[in-house]
Amino acid sequence: MSDSHTEATSTPVESVSAGPASSPGEHVVLHESDLKPGEHKVVRIKSLELGIYNIAGSFYAVHSMCPHQYGPACLGPVTSKSICDESTNWKFQWTRAGEILVCPWHGMQFDILNGESLSDKKLRLRTFPVRVVDGEVRVQIGGRRASPAA
Ligand code: FES
Repeated sequence: MSDSHTEATSTPVESVSAGPASSPGEHVVLHESDLKPGEHKVVRIKSLELGIYNIAGSFYAVHSMCPHQYGPACLGPVTSKSICDESTNWKFQWTRAGEILVCPWHGMQFDILNGESLSDKKLRLRTFPVRVVDGEVRVQIGGRRASPAA
């Protein structure tokens, strides 16, 4: 993993129509080839805006509504986290490149993998289950969750 501080700009919001899926509440948001590792896209399903992130080949879906003051969280850049503790011999290092989302309104940082705020554990972005089936990236929004693909 790179120790450099990286950022990527957001893409415009793209409306997607719910594609066919095998499970109630599951939506096909894009094809896995649409997002290379390190890329993300903001999509809209009805009134819900979601950031879809490809992090090292795994896909994540995050509600683009910041729990701080409801800013468009997924329009912010993706970055890394700095640490300075015993594990780094008390020297600042960048870690988890491409896994941290920065809300564009007030700069709060969130872990894309689980939605947690890095500065306030009471605040969390809503995350949604994602699975890839036959190249389709499917997000579960409500309804019963399908079994993971084999
Ligand atoms: S609305 Fe996101 S940090 Fe304030």
